[in-house]
Amino acid sequence: MSNDALKFVKDGYVLGLGSGRAATTFVKLLSSFIKTKKIKIKGIPTSLQIKLIAEQGGIPLIEADQVDHVDVVFDGADQIDFEKNLIKGGGGALLREHILINAAKKVVVMADKTKFVKYFNRSVPIEVHPLARSGVTKSIKKLGGKPKIRTLERGYPFITENGNLILDCCFGIIKKPKVLAQKIIQLAGVMEVGIFTRKPDVIYKAKTNGKFDIIT
Ligand code: A5P
Repeated sequence: MSNDALKFVKDGYVLGLGSGRAATTFVKLLSSFIKTKKIKIKGIPTSLQIKLIAEQGGIPLIEADQVDHVDVVFDGADQIDFEKNLIKGGGGALLREHILINAAKKVVVMADKTKFVKYFNRSVPIEVHPLARSGVTKSIKKLGGKPKIRTLERGYPFITENGNLILDCCFGIIKKPKVLAQKIIQLAGVMEVGIFTRKPDVIYKAKTNGKFDIIT
């Protein structure tokens, strides 16, 4: 599916490069593609994780604040509901991913079939300024959520590239993701919410044996 998604790459494009496994597969293919086709593009990485992969592949990179537009963003997702809303932030890169997805002319998402649900039913990553940890925790509970600070293997808190914490918050089944996201983003100290309601233009749904469906 990542190979097929290369058809959206054109000479001169500014590309947003998402984070995670699906984005990594895509970026590796993109690297060979631009060399073979002699295409000039600029990539904007959404995390150090994907920046390293892109650098290894010789993809020219710039930062988001150096461009006034993004042609296409290629990214993965943690969950996709029936209205094509996304849960993002499993890798902690939600803030940069959201900036690029909202700025992009086209959004292409790649995910395997296990990520597709009718209603969201997994935890929502919420990026929180460290000083707001207790206040946001209390407010999330009032909204019916069960927040848990994301930690690394040995118990140290996971710190995002923006110096913040992640609260992974369970809300059970989420039938109104947009309403919930709007309530959470209003809380002081919440830097980003991992519910993205900008619908992707193209979604690749990977099945087994290398087959996929394209949802537009
Ligand atoms: C990064 O913060 C995330 O939004 C990823 O895009 C998401 O977790 C999907 O990652 P995988 O492609 O590794 O499942």
